[in-house]
Amino acid sequence: MDKITVRDIIKMKGKKKIAMITAYDYTFAKLVDEAGIDIILVGDSVGMVMHGLDSTIPVSMDDMIHHVKAVAAAKPRALVVGDMPFLSYEVSVEEAIRNAGYLLKAGAEAVKLEGGTEVVNKIEALVNAGIPVMGHIGLTPQRYLILGGYRRRGRKIVEAEKIIEDAKALEKAGVFAIVIEFTAAEVAKVITENVRVPTICIGSGPYCDGQVLVLHDLLGLTKNPPPFAKKYADLANIVVNAVKKYIDEVRNNMFPSKEHYFTMRKEDYMELLKKYNSSNQ
Ligand code: KIV
Repeated sequence: MDKITVRDIIKMKGKKKIAMITAYDYTFAKLVDEAGIDIILVGDSVGMVMHGLDSTIPVSMDDMIHHVKAVAAAKPRALVVGDMPFLSYEVSVEEAIRNAGYLLKAGAEAVKLEGGTEVVNKIEALVNAGIPVMGHIGLTPQRYLILGGYRRRGRKIVEAEKIIEDAKALEKAGVFAIVIEFTAAEVAKVITENVRVPTICIGSGPYCDGQVLVLHDLLGLTKNPPPFAKKYADLANIVVNAVKKYIDEVRNNMFPSKEHYFTMRKEDYMELLKKYNSSNQ
C-alpha cells in the first residue's frame, strides 16, 4: 500500500474516518503501522508516558528528535507527525521554523503545535517554509498552568466561541488538520462542519473527522489514564504476569530449558574438564 501523505489525510475528510495514535519508538511504530493506522503522532506525551514526567512542559527538542528518529526508523506507511515541545515555537518565528525543521530532518513528515489565534503567525511562517502543520486546540496540555489544569473546555458559550474562532484562524493560517482535545462534543461538531480541513478528536466526542489516543492508554499501560481514553487491552497485567512467570522459572531452574541454549561436542567438553579440573555435571 502507498505511503500516506498530508494530501491523503486532507482528502479523507467526510469520506473515511482518520485513525491516529501516538508512538515513541521503533517497535511500537512497526506494530501500529502493521495494524493499519493512518497517522503516527510522536507526541510530547512521551515525557509523561516514557520518561515519567509530571507534565509535558520539561520535554525538550532533543527528546523529540530522539523519539521521532526511532519512529521514522520503522519506515511506516502512516504519516509521521512530530510534536513541537513547549518553548520550541513560542519565542519567535525563527525558532519555530528552525525547530520544526529539526523534526523534519529527524524523519517527521509534519509537525503539530498547540494553540489558537496566538500561534497563527508561527503556523503561517512554517507553512511558507514548506512544513506541514497540524493544529491542536481545546485543552492544550502545554498551557495547563494558565488553563487551571487539564480541564474540560468549551462547556460555556464564551469559551466555545473562542475555540471555534481558534479553529477558523488555524484553517486560514494553513494547517492541514486540527486536533481538538477535551471540548464539549458540540463544539467539535460545529468546528468539523465549519472548516475544510479534517478535525481529529481526543476526548471531544464522535463528530470529528478522526480520533486520536495515546497508545499507552489504549493498551492499558497507563496507571491513571484520562477519563476519555478507552482501554482496548490490559497489557500491564500481561507484562506483570509474564515477568512473574519468568522470575519463578529462573528461581526454580525451569528457564532456560533445552531449546534456549546449545552445547559443545562431548570430546571438547571432556578436554575442558581435564584442563580446568571441573566436575562432570
Ligand atoms: O502529545 C500527545 O500525545 C498529544 C495527543 C494527546 C493529541 O498531543
